Amino acid sequence: MPVITSIEDLRQLARKRVPRMFYDYADSGSWSESTYRANEDDFHRLLLRQRVAVNLEHRSTRTRMVGQDVAMPVAIAPTGLAGMQHADGEILAARAARAFGIPFTLSTMSICSIEDVAAATHNHPFWFQLYVMRDRTFIERLMERAAQAGCPVLVLTLDLQIIGQRHKDLKNGLSAPPRLTLRNLANMMTRPRWCAGMLRTSRRNFGNVMGHAKGVDTMHSLAAWTAEQFDPTLNWDDVAWIRRKWGGKLILKGIQEVEDARLAVDSGADALIVSNHGGRQLDGAPSSIAALPEIVDAVASYIEVHMDGGIRSGQDVLKAVALGAKGTYIGRSMLYGLGAMGESGVTQALRIIQRELDLTMAFCGCTDIARVDRAIVRPVRRYGDVD
Ligand code: GLV
Repeated sequence: MPVITSIEDLRQLARKRVPRMFYDYADSGSWSESTYRANEDDFHRLLLRQRVAVNLEHRSTRTRMVGQDVAMPVAIAPTGLAGMQHADGEILAARAARAFGIPFTLSTMSICSIEDVAAATHNHPFWFQLYVMRDRTFIERLMERAAQAGCPVLVLTLDLQIIGQRHKDLKNGLSAPPRLTLRNLANMMTRPRWCAGMLRTSRRNFGNVMGHAKGVDTMHSLAAWTAEQFDPTLNWDDVAWIRRKWGGKLILKGIQEVEDARLAVDSGADALIVSNHGGRQLDGAPSSIAALPEIVDAVASYIEVHMDGGIRSGQDVLKAVALGAKGTYIGRSMLYGLGAMGESGVTQALRIIQRELDLTMAFCGCTDIARVDRAIVRPVRRYGDVD
């Protein structure tokens, strides 16, 4: 067993252990993947300022996201099909998040259902992410199910009424459960742990949807299914309707521009997430970390600003917090841990990120995450640059 010291180690292990179709689903962006790559690359363009001879005892990464205490400003992002990276994936990730003291967000497109996750985590509150589908009765019912399960927060995704083209998913014929073609079988046979887990569980389909949404009994292709079911008419009146129906905390996910951030404030939501959906939707959009500062400057005094996209280390979390994010989300960093080693892999991912966050914050001369601000980062300067 290799020694795991970074999220990259978990990614490499996941690549070996998860069937190609699902690994590719997680680890890709849309079209040229330029936004997907920029999400990570732009973090590396920000430099940190080292401070010395500062008392570094009694450090804390604890803070709050939408009023909830968190062990660090990181939540688990909603990710579709997590239960295909590892059997019962959403349950395992929710347990790891609960033990660590950070929020877990369950996707509408999860394999384990809302009820499965609630039962398996002994009703420890988790957050629920909502996709709006054409069948509004189903959407109302989904919100009711989330409320019944005790979810205090609804994360409403606004950037996926239509789906960006991901070449690999089309080429791999992505579906859940996977079709038993010769190619898929040959690949799965090289992933015996994954197969053993999948044979032990009955959760191999979209748990929140199958048997709940009218007329949905199979999902041949994610792209075709989304085109049929997701509501392309979703608009700000719908956001108002959802806010009234829900009643709990509401976070709007997928904001990239100041104009939309202002509309998010007007909607009365509790927080917004600066996000380009992990580079999976509009290829060519700026990275989330590049989009963040403008939005913080425009609206952070009215609404809590969070971000996701490209976080592969605690250093990335620190940079996002320094630029004004009150919280961040990890999708792929969690999925790599899950695919590599199930629950303990997610726990490892969280430990790695927290350790990096704590040490880097200390090198920058800070002992409390709540006091970190822009003073600790500076843009990359090249020889010859002038102010
Ligand atoms: C949907 O959640 C996706 O990005 O695939």
